[in-house]
Amino acid sequence: MRSFLFFAFALVVMSCGRKPTDPGIEYAPQMYHSIPLDPYSQTDYNQFFKDKKNAQAPVAGTVAVGKSDYYYPYANDADGYEQAGKELKNPYSVDNKFLSEGKRLFNLYCKHCHGEQGGNDGTVMASGKFPKPGWANYQSDYIRTLPEGKIFHTLTYGKNLMGSHATQLDPYERWMVTAYVKDLSKIGLKEEVKTEKKENSK
Ligand code: HEC
Repeated sequence: MRSFLFFAFALVVMSCGRKPTDPGIEYAPQMYHSIPLDPYSQTDYNQFFKDKKNAQAPVAGTVAVGKSDYYYPYANDADGYEQAGKELKNPYSVDNKFLSEGKRLFNLYCKHCHGEQGGNDGTVMASGKFPKPGWANYQSDYIRTLPEGKIFHTLTYGKNLMGSHATQLDPYERWMVTAYVKDLSKIGLKEEVKTEKKENSK
């Protein structure tokens, strides 16, 4: 019993170092502590920076190389929504490949609510357990006249009951889906234009 108590006491004494960053006795420490200062592995205070951290936060406004389209200047509020509607335009050219990828993504992430052609008749909305938007479908004037910047904004931040899709779709993909929404909104129009043309050619 006595030897057990001594052992326990020794453990307590050994486990308390004076320096809080001191890891205690380590086996072959040179195997896992690098000599240069590593940003993601720090065992001692950094003496060169005021906050004593190796990993420094990037300067405010920093944009990572190749990630400039992740920089989104519009705030997640009513003003940001309006501003995006006025200023934000799709930077990519819309061709068949762009639209067909938009369609693929739409069918994965949006169809279950908005339906295949934006009729708000996807399985979720058709179940009657999830409130539908105030507008009937993508072919309604609301979506037809809704600026693409506002659609992109909604996909980025979400709007009321529709959640943000920024974690599922990167900015490039969000523009593809936006273009596809706009394309779906023209469904009836295309036919009207077609019949108008036919009528004119009679
Ligand atoms: C969980 C169901 C759900 C999913 C999934 C969903 N939406 Fe929505 N969406 C809604 C609802 C509800 C609204 C109405 C929001 C409001 O105005 O209150 C809406 C609104 C919209 C609007 C109008 C936005 C605006 O600015 O008024 C567009 C466009 C849209 N959705 C497109 C999409 C696209 C594209 C996807 C897939 C990336 C998607 N939605 C996924 C439920 C959903």
